[in-house]
Amino acid sequence: MAVPFVEDWDLVQTLGEGAYGEVQLAVNRKTEEAVAVKIVDMKRAVDCAENIKKEICINKMLNHTNIVKFYGHRKEGNIHYLFLEYCRGGELFDRIEPDVGMPEQDAQKFFQQLIAGVEYLHGLGITHRDIKPENLLLDDRDQLKISDFGLATVFRHNGRERLLNKMCGTMPYVAPELIKMRGFHAEPVDVWSCGIVLTAMLAGELPWDQPNDMCQEYCDWKESKHYLPPWKKIDAVPLAFLCKILTENPSSRIRISEIKKERWFTKPPKKGIKRSLGTSDAPGLFSKHIRSDMDLSLFSHSEEKVTFSSTQPEPRTALPTWDSTSHIDKLVQGKGISFSQPACPDNMLLSSQLLGTPGSSQSPWQRLVKRMTRFFTKVDAESSYSSLKETCENMGYVWKKCCANQVTLSTTDRRNSKLIFKVNLVEMDERILLDFRLSKGDGLEFKRHFLKIKKKLDDIVASQKVVMSVT
Ligand code: ADE
Repeated sequence: MAVPFVEDWDLVQTLGEGAYGEVQLAVNRKTEEAVAVKIVDMKRAVDCAENIKKEICINKMLNHTNIVKFYGHRKEGNIHYLFLEYCRGGELFDRIEPDVGMPEQDAQKFFQQLIAGVEYLHGLGITHRDIKPENLLLDDRDQLKISDFGLATVFRHNGRERLLNKMCGTMPYVAPELIKMRGFHAEPVDVWSCGIVLTAMLAGELPWDQPNDMCQEYCDWKESKHYLPPWKKIDAVPLAFLCKILTENPSSRIRISEIKKERWFTKPPKKGIKRSLGTSDAPGLFSKHIRSDMDLSLFSHSEEKVTFSSTQPEPRTALPTWDSTSHIDKLVQGKGISFSQPACPDNMLLSSQLLGTPGSSQSPWQRLVKRMTRFFTKVDAESSYSSLKETCENMGYVWKKCCANQVTLSTTDRRNSKLIFKVNLVEMDERILLDFRLSKGDGLEFKRHFLKIKKKLDDIVASQKVVMSVT
């Protein structure tokens, strides 16, 4: 029987962007299967062709619960499409409250999952080389998934290890030997960046701009000045653990085999305290212990519409398994499939094609990738836009309108680095959602800026009570 639209996929939302191109969310019009599509334009960089080949080759080797699944790829002209598991829970950095972090038990769980993924990679002789919260995604059950193998490389082949010498990664997360030495071992560099991620999870800030002796914060750490932030916010046991990870000498640095035996790593979650993550007793997507004032409105709304529990089968739109007859398979092969891309993809959330799909088991609330950097307003689109513009201009942001419902804001952060983010105005259920997304810069800084803007817009931010009474 012919099924209308079965082969049509809509690119409904930008999930992320970078120097390579962007990642879009593709939803099958009929089945509502969701996949992330990384779109790489080969014309962007000269070494792009080699890099993308390597990224695809490495992705093909991987199969682990804590690594974003790779479904396949397709090339059309100069554009490469990589089809990847869609992680509905968004990025780990969205769970980190600036200057606070997250509950220690959550950090422990995420860290255990991160180490499981990194251990698997190292076992295959692969190093990620850019571990940071922006590259750690979460699925609908808050399972951490390592993403983006654009910088990954093979450091061990047929049992023989090669030393690395290429400087790559993101400065606050790179290990000191990468800056100092010509040849260094791959594994301790990934372990170091896991330690910086753990610091960010426990304290809500990055400890230094870069780990060298020109950086005061790094020197203070080496002199064990633990009475200073971020260390003073961290409990003695995890702090002792961090001392072993953030050890300057890579040969003395703790290894993954030892990490797994550490007290903080293995200690069972405290009894009698309601866990704040969803995996054990509630679906993670609707965790109640959400992260300060971050967009409770959106979450409370979601909670009401969705009733499945961890004991029930996953919703139909949960990530599909790799199945040779699936629609994703056809999507990858490109058999008679066309993307129907709207002019401004973010607006597709309003599309009747999506909202009105018969038999839809997924509300637009669920389909939206979980992100804390958004809020509803209690005024109309025009007033939302003008309030946002006035506030941001008063705060010194450079304001640029991109398309009807999107603006780009640029500034420099407290470390004097460029910070660029976009704001989309999305109409949903007759209300306006201001959705902020980082384009360039540090994720934690972006969140600090988001919170400042949100506070300034307090008059128009829909309160949780208002949202609840509407539904
Ligand atoms: N952002 C980048 N890659 C993504 C993915 N696979 N799922 C959700 N968001 C993403």
